Amino acid sequence: MITLNVNGKARNLDIPDDMPLLWTLRDVLAMTGTKFGCGQGLCGACTIHIDGQPTRSCITPARAAVGKRVTTIEAIGATYDSTTETTVADSVKKYDEYDLIFECTGYSPIIFDAMQALNENGILILASVTGGGRTTDKVPSDLINQRFVLGNRAMVGTVNAGREHFELGVKDLALCEAMYPGWLGKMLTHKVEGLENFAKVFEILNNSAQYKAIKTYFEVKPI
Ligand code: FES
Repeated sequence: MITLNVNGKARNLDIPDDMPLLWTLRDVLAMTGTKFGCGQGLCGACTIHIDGQPTRSCITPARAAVGKRVTTIEAIGATYDSTTETTVADSVKKYDEYDLIFECTGYSPIIFDAMQALNENGILILASVTGGGRTTDKVPSDLINQRFVLGNRAMVGTVNAGREHFELGVKDLALCEAMYPGWLGKMLTHKVEGLENFAKVFEILNNSAQYKAIKTYFEVKPI
């Protein structure tokens, strides 16, 4: 039996103390806001906070959190819905219109659904790069235009990381490489030299099966 403090509540759990926190939360406590992704500490889908520190719960045993504060996404009242089960329009019926939408799916048609899901004065942030030639139709353009103008809605595009995020990313990658030597080289399959060669990157991304590409990246300048 171990006791964990999860979102401010003491939980007595009859589990092996090496059970990963991810499964402790999801399967034992039925707190499914914490997601399973890679299961290897690489993707971050399972991130929780332990004493305020972001921690990958899939590779952290429950005993590591004994005597500490575990905080999950449920603590901020968040819920998780997938558009494979609920459309954006249906989610508006469920939760009402959104004040802020941060779009980073990599699926461009959903942008138009998101534009129609915004509340008055709402902001839609586009942060995914879609390099294909996809088009979409049946967009109610008059309605969208009218709602944006009269409802003071805004849409902006951004790259979703600053320098410190890239530095954190480099740190994480270096840590993973130390833990799993050779892993990084297998993931970073295609290097393109120079930002000016962006067209090559899109060519690889759009034909990733043919190129056998997993991750394509720019070398901005040699290090
Ligand atoms: S599931 Fe990917 S880091 Fe934990």
